[in-house]
Amino acid sequence: MSDAADEITQGLASLGERFRADFASAANETALREARAQVLGKKGDLTALLKLMGKVPKEKKKDIGAAVNKVKGEVEEVFNARLTVLAEAERRADLNARPYDLTLPARSPNPSGHLHPLTRAKYDILDIFRSLGFEVGWGPEIELEDNNFTKLAFPPDHPATDMQDTFWVTVDGAARARTLLRTHTTSVQVRELLTRNPPLAVVSAGAVYRRDDDVTHSPMFHQVDGFMVGEDVSFAQLKGVLSAFARRLYGADAPVRFRASYFPFVEPGAELDIGCVFCEPGEARAKCRVCKSTGWLEVLGCGMVHPAVLEHCGIDSEKYTGFAFGLGIDRVAMLRYAIPDIRVLFDNDPRFLAQF
Ligand code: DAH
Repeated sequence: MSDAADEITQGLASLGERFRADFASAANETALREARAQVLGKKGDLTALLKLMGKVPKEKKKDIGAAVNKVKGEVEEVFNARLTVLAEAERRADLNARPYDLTLPARSPNPSGHLHPLTRAKYDILDIFRSLGFEVGWGPEIELEDNNFTKLAFPPDHPATDMQDTFWVTVDGAARARTLLRTHTTSVQVRELLTRNPPLAVVSAGAVYRRDDDVTHSPMFHQVDGFMVGEDVSFAQLKGVLSAFARRLYGADAPVRFRASYFPFVEPGAELDIGCVFCEPGEARAKCRVCKSTGWLEVLGCGMVHPAVLEHCGIDSEKYTGFAFGLGIDRVAMLRYAIPDIRVLFDNDPRFLAQF
């Protein structure tokens, strides 16, 4: 009579031949793992035999159990050996393969890139002022307190000079000669006026730094600042130059208005607004978040150079007058390209930059 013990013994015998042949003919790791699952998996042959163990008479259990375990061990051994052979073959094939992959997407035919949207905005702004007769100046980003604040007639305790707003530069933990990361490019006015004689019309651009960080403020951002100083320079000239500038940048029929404002280094001071480029009067304006439904966008600060600034720079304020202005480049780029978050300008994410 063939009892469970015999059935298992026979099963092990036929299995022994089959799995070796199956493992040897498996051409890759997936096929090999499938062949192994047919033996050791839930529905595998060896698993089926194991289920018969309960029916094996007590006195034979030990021997039969040992035989099953032996085959199980062999299955693992042969499996691992074959796995190693397949892995080595795959690695060798990989090394001998062509060093390029024809299935990869092709390179763009135009990999030369383009200017960053901020650089473009900067060049456009400088070009307009250059065409109006301004020359382009330069100043450092690490600046003296004197050029950034004091000579521009900021009182010593002005809140802008506060630790909260300004990055003060320290060396070995000590404030060095009251040095800071310039908070505006207006410091270039001081450098020019200290070293050159009027008549002067100079514009400059570059990075500035403040302790600010949110959707519309970045600790580093960019400004253009300019001024014209000479005999009889008037507020009418300020209005003419800056209106022309705004219309060249935002379109010939952009509405422009001047609004009284305050900066320590000008008197009188003003801000220039342009009509909101995102909405029309009516329902759209009521919902416009960019101009906050006012219909106006702040574009730049300006004013007549304060006589104290001229005097601090050794220029006779009885003889000379001037106007000055400053604006954010980042804001120009954000308005132009409808960019809602200033921080993406500095992330260097190609998915963003490729859109310009
Ligand atoms: N420096 C000012 C700022 O950062 C902007 C500014 C206003 C510059 C008036 C000027 C000016 O030259 O005349 O907010």
